[in-house]
Amino acid sequence: MPNAEKMKITNMHAIIILLYALTLGACSKQANFDSDNSKQTYQKADLQTLRQAPFPIGAAVVPSTLKSNANYRNIVTTEMSSISGENAMKMNSISRGRKSYFWDDADYLVNFAAENKLRVHGHTLIWYKHTPTWVASFSGTKDDWKTILKEYIQDVVGRYKGKVASWDVVNEIINDDGSLRDCIWLQKIGPEYIELSFRYAHEADPAALLFYNDYGQEWSHARRKAAYHLADSLVKNNVPIHGLGLQMHTNVARSVNDIRYAITAAAVTGLKVHVSELDVAVNPDKKLTAFNETVAQQQKERYRAAAKAMLDIPENQRFGITMWGVHDPSSWLSPNPDWALPFNNLFEKKPAYDGLLEGLYQGK
Ligand code: XIL
Repeated sequence: MPNAEKMKITNMHAIIILLYALTLGACSKQANFDSDNSKQTYQKADLQTLRQAPFPIGAAVVPSTLKSNANYRNIVTTEMSSISGENAMKMNSISRGRKSYFWDDADYLVNFAAENKLRVHGHTLIWYKHTPTWVASFSGTKDDWKTILKEYIQDVVGRYKGKVASWDVVNEIINDDGSLRDCIWLQKIGPEYIELSFRYAHEADPAALLFYNDYGQEWSHARRKAAYHLADSLVKNNVPIHGLGLQMHTNVARSVNDIRYAITAAAVTGLKVHVSELDVAVNPDKKLTAFNETVAQQQKERYRAAAKAMLDIPENQRFGITMWGVHDPSSWLSPNPDWALPFNNLFEKKPAYDGLLEGLYQGK
């Protein structure tokens, strides 16, 4: 057998052993946790709204819709415990030039959250997709690039110190094959930009919880393995990282077990776990013309699995579940349409909503 082939097989074995160990580790932790913690059992009567869930359940929100739509606002204030800005806290929303900022939308969210006793999760400091044009055309030495990275992160995190509980410090930094994703910061600073971003954020608000957020852990072993390896090496190097964000943009064609597995396996890192952008598209092949009972039940099962899996990890690691939008038309997938969220276009609860609550009180 050629050496390259042997290497591949050895690597495959290593991955399988690692995943097996992850699963075993997860199961034994879960077993201990179940037997030690009486709060594992929730009754239907304890859970009338998502807000009563034993960990924060939240949504990505849009300031203009919060201002203009009372039904939307009402769901956020009565059902949610946490909000992320769908776009309001991204770099190209806030940064208009070096040291020039647009704060209105981000401020609005932070004030809205304070008034309604909601947690704010900051999304996201560094993302290859939403880099402002002035950054893309900036020219300077490596040290100059570190300076502008630090300035931006510390100005934003510093402004919301004590008000934004947590940040996605870096978003989508790994490719599908497990390699580091190309971005301007990688080009100009090198891979060190990752740990620097965490360190700068931590200096600006030592109490904020800091996350690495990415997608695809529920369907790609390569991505999952690379994400855990990266998180592990950051922890070993004393980089202030506190959690992993699993975006979890999923759909009814994908297995329910994948959701459970991604959450359970992420918890084995010992970090907090945030299902950070949950949505379950029901129309992945674009053939449906209307939402129907079959896909409603499939969607419900997936929301239920996410809630139950989060409940099953140790309590101090349950950062929560954030849905990527409030009701179907406010989903970023809505033009498809994909009916991806737990509330419909009339702001009514869908079976997916019951799925979330049932995951918490029924278990399995
Ligand atoms: C999306 C927003 O929902 C859209 O409104 C925007 O046009 C593009 O970004 N992963 C992420 C989110 O981390 O920030 C993305 O949000 C969805 C995918």
